[in-house]
Amino acid sequence: MTGKQNTREQAGSGPLPRTLFRGFGIHNSWSGQKFPHPGRRRPIIGDVQVSDPRNPILSILRLGAELGGIYELKVFRQKFVFVASADLTAELCDETRFCKTLPPAIGALREYGGDGLFTAYNDEPNWQLAHDLLMPAFARASMQRYHDIMLTTSQELIDYWDRLPEQRVDITRDMTKLAMETLSRAAFSHDFGSFTSERPHPFVGAMVRALETGRRRGGLRAAPGGKLLGNYLTRRIADDHDYANALIDELVAERIEDTSQHDLLGIMLNVRHPESGERLTPLNIRYQILTFLVAGHETTAGALSFALYFLSENPDCLALAQQETDEILGDDPDAEPTYEQVAKFRYIRRCLDESLRLWPTVPAFSRRPVSDTVLGGRYPMRTSDWALIMLGQVHRDPAVWEDPETFDPDRFLPDEIKKRPAHSYKPFGTGMRACIGRQFALHESVLVLARLIHRYDLTPDPDYVLRVHERLTMVPGKLHLTLTHRVPGAGRRPPADHDAPPAE
Ligand code: HEM
Repeated sequence: MTGKQNTREQAGSGPLPRTLFRGFGIHNSWSGQKFPHPGRRRPIIGDVQVSDPRNPILSILRLGAELGGIYELKVFRQKFVFVASADLTAELCDETRFCKTLPPAIGALREYGGDGLFTAYNDEPNWQLAHDLLMPAFARASMQRYHDIMLTTSQELIDYWDRLPEQRVDITRDMTKLAMETLSRAAFSHDFGSFTSERPHPFVGAMVRALETGRRRGGLRAAPGGKLLGNYLTRRIADDHDYANALIDELVAERIEDTSQHDLLGIMLNVRHPESGERLTPLNIRYQILTFLVAGHETTAGALSFALYFLSENPDCLALAQQETDEILGDDPDAEPTYEQVAKFRYIRRCLDESLRLWPTVPAFSRRPVSDTVLGGRYPMRTSDWALIMLGQVHRDPAVWEDPETFDPDRFLPDEIKKRPAHSYKPFGTGMRACIGRQFALHESVLVLARLIHRYDLTPDPDYVLRVHERLTMVPGKLHLTLTHRVPGAGRRPPADHDAPPAE
């Protein structure tokens, strides 16, 4: 990350507050406003001792539970402001007043992701260029090609499961393999061979370790000695970083002479911007590949795993979802949904939406004002101030969600959605920086869930208690389910709202 870019992002479009230049100034000062914080604040270290550096998001969710719609944590000189209410979130999602910003933990990821789509600053030319070039890769025509890849990889998962001597499977591990394989084949025409080995491809571990360390380094930035510790951490994961870069270079080398593929990598290597004629640079292509491999697989793997968890824990919902697959796919357990059929699994889609409400796998995103403003009619914000929207809390805001802890897919019936205020459900972010892979993730997840529950009944371990594991994103930890082959029954009554359109 260059100093210039960092300064520009922190400053936004307005002047830098003087506190940023002073040795002891608070970063993200909010002009000295105080918000509720979780008690026992200590001089110098602030709230460090109450938060868990290994599971920062989970500890913030726990600590912030009683603190209201906006609260803060102080980690040495770094102030973090969190928004937990749907009404403040709706305001922060107003693109005329607010935009994406990179909090320290994400800013630190620029060492790996550079000006790739996820970690780019809003005004970096490569963001617009990559966005314009890659958006068509998520249009309908491309999605149809990905559909066939999704069928193939989900069949490999099914074959792998059916070959296992016992039918108790590690859901999060296998969903990670599936999502990684699907993404790498769809985006880069590269086969990682995930289902021919017992463990996920080593790239996954290497990259997650490197990025997790990057994120922790960002959090340490404001601590005394944080830079030294950060450098130590960087050295510790240098091998992982080198390994991931070598793998990406290999991916590119395989394709440099081959201009026949029209996947994401083909577009990045060969397509010029229709107006400016510009192309992405080799370094930016490396950043984008890393971004897509990471942003595209862990998030979807988590969403699938949580959905399978909730279905297994809610047999009535599972029965309704299976009834829907029987209705659409008939009584052949090997039936493969067509592209058009995927959109018809409306109940399954609602189960997925509801899982992402309770456990949004990207747990937060960050916003700052485009010019000095007042949030919620009472909190002045300068362009250097930013807030993290905590989706796990916004999606449970009792002002919007009745009985928020209950898994109830029918919250996503069209009439229920219409009753809710805008922006109260944001698992894919918002505005121009919202998730580019949203349709890809939704299509893949619904397709995979439909195939799996059409074929298997799911039984949870009787003693399992959901332990969310915080990686780069959120996933259910140590989730095993026992699969039993089922005999699909065609011709049963579909759920009442079978033809209602999907959530968004
Ligand atoms: C359930 C799965 C997914 C979830 C919950 C999810 C969530 C998100 C969220 C919340 C953001 C915005 C972050 C911010 O504002 O800072 C985002 C951005 C992004 N996502 Fe996803 N994502 C998912 C799947 C995917 C997939 C499958 C891909 C790629 C194929 C992808 C690629 C990206 C990229 C490149 C960005 C940055 C977009 C930009 O800033 O221009 N995501 N995602």
